[in-house]
Amino acid sequence: MTVTRTFSIIKPDATRRNLTGAVTQILEDGGLRVVASKRIQMTKEQAEGFYGVHKERPFFGELVEFMISEPVVVQVLEGENSVQRNRDLMGATNPDDADEGTIRKTHALSIGENSVHGSDSDENAAIEISYFFSDTELVG
Ligand code: CMP
Repeated sequence: MTVTRTFSIIKPDATRRNLTGAVTQILEDGGLRVVASKRIQMTKEQAEGFYGVHKERPFFGELVEFMISEPVVVQVLEGENSVQRNRDLMGATNPDDADEGTIRKTHALSIGENSVHGSDSDENAAIEISYFFSDTELVG
């Protein structure tokens, strides 16, 4: 199995409730290593660009407003098969559908306020990592 990197966001509903540590603990216990992490206030332009693939969706405006409502923590996670591993640890997008023990089942409030984002492919992970981190910030 290959060690890869994926991108994660701890969203405003989680940072607001002081759950940065609790969410990170689930990721670390699940075999992922945090190789970069920073707390940022996303700008509207940043959020619109990041979620550009969803811009025609009815929830796009709500999604952008939510993501800029409070600080988020952006992270790069490393581990074997990290994209899928992270998605397994996050659980389904809608917390009502998420498995027990997942981040979203344990902490998410709704399909919108769902505590975490995770890349859906190795290709998108590379794009999303470079959207928020420079090479010099990725120290391993
Ligand atoms: P995320 O993995 O960050 O990618 C896109 C986000 O859009 C998703 O998580 C959800 O938080 C959000 N989303 C998806 N469907 C809906 C919806 N029906 N209403 C509001 N937000 C949604």
